[in-house]
Amino acid sequence: MYEKIAAEKDRLLKQKGQAVILAIESSCDETAAAVTCGFETLGACVHTQIDLHKKYGGVVPEIASRDHVRMLDFVVEEALLRAGKTLADIEAVAVTYGPGLVGALLCGVSFAKSLAFACGVPLYGVNHIEGHICANYLAHPDLTPPYLCLVVSGGHSHLVMVSEHGVYQLLGKTRDDAAGEAFDKAARVLGLGYPGGPQIDELAKQGDASRFTLPHPRVEGLDYSFSGLKTAMIQEAQRREKNGGFDIRDAAASFQQCVVAQLCEKAMRAARQTGAKTLAVAGGVAANSGLRDALGAACKKAGLRFCVPPVALCTDNAEMIGAAAHLVMRYRAPMDLTLNAQPSLRLPMIRIDAL
Ligand code: KG4
Ligand code: ZN
Repeated sequence: MYEKIAAEKDRLLKQKGQAVILAIESSCDETAAAVTCGFETLGACVHTQIDLHKKYGGVVPEIASRDHVRMLDFVVEEALLRAGKTLADIEAVAVTYGPGLVGALLCGVSFAKSLAFACGVPLYGVNHIEGHICANYLAHPDLTPPYLCLVVSGGHSHLVMVSEHGVYQLLGKTRDDAAGEAFDKAARVLGLGYPGGPQIDELAKQGDASRFTLPHPRVEGLDYSFSGLKTAMIQEAQRREKNGGFDIRDAAASFQQCVVAQLCEKAMRAARQTGAKTLAVAGGVAANSGLRDALGAACKKAGLRFCVPPVALCTDNAEMIGAAAHLVMRYRAPMDLTLNAQPSLRLPMIRIDAL
């Protein structure tokens, strides 16, 4: 019965082209809900679990799941309140179903399925990485494919050509650690807590990158490599601690500069090789001030349009899931109630070599 009603409503929404969507995100350590319509946010709420995981130095999956269960109700109610809407106004439900922590994802997926069923509205499953890319449309609603997008999060470092909505061509990716993972590991080496990226970003602003030497990894083509940087940093830190002259701010500045230089160099090379006119950046590491500045300056110099979401929309949030669902709704069927969490869900991408 539900499937029939949802299919009919999906047909009507596809005709209308947009819907008031209640979006839910719970793939890692943020519990988030948003009410969106098209690329507009009507109301949103994010609860971060950072304080819960801090003392363990990283995200503890079981603690994350329990807190999602505790907070989902609250963030949904708050998002509706901020939007001035009730459940009766919701025309579709969207939810992140992967990639991410299985238990954390399951909380959001189960909640979203129940809500869609109870409200009798279609349910759209969203890939978290596609969500990050779509955060750009919230800030730049006129952005349209084709464009180049650098996706840099805790688990992903991909350089993709978004050739059409929902069609991704892979140009390059990391051969080892993701950029965010590299930031987090480097922060641990420096004795900083979790999450490491924002702390390195802050320290780097006060440091001098030229006073701490790290090698710039050389990887062929448009692929990246970050894992060697961590080892180089440990060795350099140990050498300096022995001889004196170790300044954590210089180490952070040097590390950030190395990561940013590599990301920037490959992204600009990809733009030259593909003839792309626009470069967008997405994911948690897109919040990094050094990366934002460097890519912005490089794009200006090369005459490219540069798109980046505001910092709050770079890290995990539900507005980006609503924005992605707005597009997903147009070209994909809704999910049925057998939808399950898919911790290793991949973004379908065709690998191409830049011309
Ligand atoms: O996209 P995200 O919130 O979660 C995933 O989908 O993975 O990204 C989290 C990652 C973490 O590794 C975090 O350290 C990094 O993004 N991050 C940053 C900054 N803010 C978050 N890295 C560098 N500089 C930042 N300002
Ligand atoms: Zn994320």
